[in-house]
Amino acid sequence: MKTASDVIVEALNGLVPRVALVLGSGLGGLVDAVEDPVRVSYSKLPGFPESGVSGHAGEVVAGTIGGKPVLLLSGRVHYYEKGDAAAMRPVLEVLKGLGIEKLILTNAAGSLREELAPGSVMLIEDHINFSGTNPLIGEEDDARFVGMTSAYDSGLRETISKAAEAEGIALDAGVYMWFSGPSFETPAEIRMARIMGADAVGMSTVPEVILGRFLGLACAACSVITNYGAGMTGGELSHAETKDMAPIGGKKLQAILTRAIADMQ
Ligand code: HPA
Repeated sequence: MKTASDVIVEALNGLVPRVALVLGSGLGGLVDAVEDPVRVSYSKLPGFPESGVSGHAGEVVAGTIGGKPVLLLSGRVHYYEKGDAAAMRPVLEVLKGLGIEKLILTNAAGSLREELAPGSVMLIEDHINFSGTNPLIGEEDDARFVGMTSAYDSGLRETISKAAEAEGIALDAGVYMWFSGPSFETPAEIRMARIMGADAVGMSTVPEVILGRFLGLACAACSVITNYGAGMTGGELSHAETKDMAPIGGKKLQAILTRAIADMQ
C-alpha cells in the first residue's frame, strides 16, 4: 500500500519543497497564491486526520510561490476535536520525512489588545501553553525534553517582518495563548490572559510548534485577528464570525507570506 509520503512525492512530480504552511480557519485563500497547484485530499493520504471543523478543507496543495516550491496544508485537526494534542503529529512526521525544514503556521485568533483590531495580523513571537496538556506526553526518551526558548525561529520572523514592511502592511508581534477550546473563553479568562502577558488567544498552533521543534523544524506562526477577546466588546463570539472575518486579515497574510516565501533562503 502506498504511504502518504509516496502519494505526496508522486504529486510533487520532482518538486522538493523545504517550506510547509499550515492554514488556519477560514485562511484557505492562501492556496490562491500557489502557482501550478497540485491538490491531494487528506482522504487519499493514509494516516492523515480529517478535520470535522467547518472552514478547514483537508487537502495538501503543492506548487510554487514566487518560484519557491511549497507544500500547503489546508486544514488541520485540533486538540478539541478528539482530545488528542498530538493529532497533527502524523502529518508533521510526513513533512519531516519529505525534507521540509521550515514550518509556517497560521491561525485565527482573538485579540487582547485594543490596538490589535479585528482584520489585523500578528506575528507570534512566543506562546503560553494554557491547555494543561502537551503533544509529547507519553514520549519515552530524553528527546521529549524539547527546549522552547527559541521556539519561534528568529530568522523566519525577520523574513516575515521584512516582507510585511515591504508590502506596507502593519504586522504586530505578540504572545499567543493556547486555550483548549472548543468553547470560547469567558471574560474573566480573557482578563487573566491579559494579566499573564498574552496578546492573542486561540485554539491551535501551540501543539504543532511543540511537535515541530521536537522534529527539528524551524517554526514561525502568524495570527489573523478575527475578534476581540470575550467581554472586550459586549457581543457574543461565534465560529461564524471567525470564518467571516478570517479572509480580511487572511488577504494581508497572503501578501506577507507570498513575499516572505519568495525571499526565504
Ligand atoms: N478565542 C479562541 N480562539 C479563537 C478566537 C477567540 O477569541 N477567535 C478566533 N479563534
